[in-house]
Amino acid sequence: MPKVRVGVLGATGIVGQRFVSLLVDHPWFELEALTASPRSAGKPYAEASKWYLSEPLPEDVAELTVLETDPREVEREADVDLVFSALPSDVAREVEPKFAEAGFAVASNASAYRMEEDVPLVIPEVNPDHLGLIDVQRDERGWDGFIVTNPNCSTIQMVLTLKPLMDEFGVEEVIVSTMQAVSGAGYAGVPSMAILDNIIPYIEGEEEKMETETLKILGELDGDRIEPADLTVSASCHRVPVLDGHTEAIFVSTTEEADPEEAAEVLAGFRGIPQERGLPTAPERPVIVREEEDRPQPRFDREAGDGMSVVVGRIRRDPVLDGLKYVCVGHNAVRGAAGASVLNAELLVSEGYL
Ligand SMILES: NC(=O)c1ccc[n+]([C@@H]2O[C@H](COP(=O)([O-])OP(=O)(O)OC[C@H]3O[C@@H](n4cnc5c(N)ncnc54)[C@H](OP(=O)(O)O)[C@@H]3O)[C@@H](O)[C@H]2O)c1
Repeated sequence: MPKVRVGVLGATGIVGQRFVSLLVDHPWFELEALTASPRSAGKPYAEASKWYLSEPLPEDVAELTVLETDPREVEREADVDLVFSALPSDVAREVEPKFAEAGFAVASNASAYRMEEDVPLVIPEVNPDHLGLIDVQRDERGWDGFIVTNPNCSTIQMVLTLKPLMDEFGVEEVIVSTMQAVSGAGYAGVPSMAILDNIIPYIEGEEEKMETETLKILGELDGDRIEPADLTVSASCHRVPVLDGHTEAIFVSTTEEADPEEAAEVLAGFRGIPQERGLPTAPERPVIVREEEDRPQPRFDREAGDGMSVVVGRIRRDPVLDGLKYVCVGHNAVRGAAGASVLNAELLVSEGYL
């Protein structure tokens, strides 16, 4: 199979760098174009990005000239069918439709279009059938290309644990309290003077995203629309001085009585289409269950499954919600961002959309 040629929009940021790292040796994708803001355009990538990953920046990527984030420029300078978007949401809102209109497939990590009715919001293990909205989107908007989105970082890891519990026991109410890493706010996101020796109990828009995106992802595709899932989510989101890896304390009420040991088996046994088809970025186990009383922890568990697995522990009965409570850790920039978009793109290839 010839490789699909791809580009990254917003390639110099935290998520953009993760995209580069996941795409350099990808078996299905060839990285051909990198874009960023006018501040970076025209510079070699090594100069424009403050490379923060521990692995070295590959030389051929370091030398690539950063392009303007404009479909005409990308068409002129590179031959690309798919672009991954790691743009700030306000920029994505303006730019992503221009790429879709110009015929590019856009796999977006930004929030701008996630909740639009005709835009799929996909976690490949959870709701791969929602890609069916692509045809609706193309019909309604008259685009040759399309936009597919992945959820917000904290939502992805929570929903990966809710889906198997929902299928087995039914889930009616969810309360979640997050402890989110600083990398989730982007490279210049949180000043060190604000976060060191501190916790910030507010992340703009995050609670609303967890409360609404969850219902769309767990909803049913009904013809040309999604019927949201019938459950309530209450989220409280907090920034903590951890570099990478979000931790979440999750409390769920279940329809059927759920025994913690049985829940552990259900979570550990969860598999989806990415595992069945062996998609290149799919982890062997989407949810890993740890038995130790003091796990999961971000420092030890965020790299599980190369950052694509979510790690769950401390599964107990919840006496207030008459259900379960547990702790979950996921890598916000890999499974929660770039890895999520790359897995979506692999699903698009395997479903014949690319
Ligand atoms: N960080 C995470 O863990 C995470 C998780 C899930 C979702 N997200 C979402 O992913 C997106 C990127 O987040 P990030 O953390 O990578 O942010 P970031 O580190 O601030 O990077 C932003 C990127 O966008 C580019 N950019 C900024 N303004 C632009 C403009 N006017 N035109 C074109 N490009 C522009 C920047 O280029 P310059 O370097 O030239 O400024 C940079 O490449 C956001 O929508 C965010 O909400 C992030």
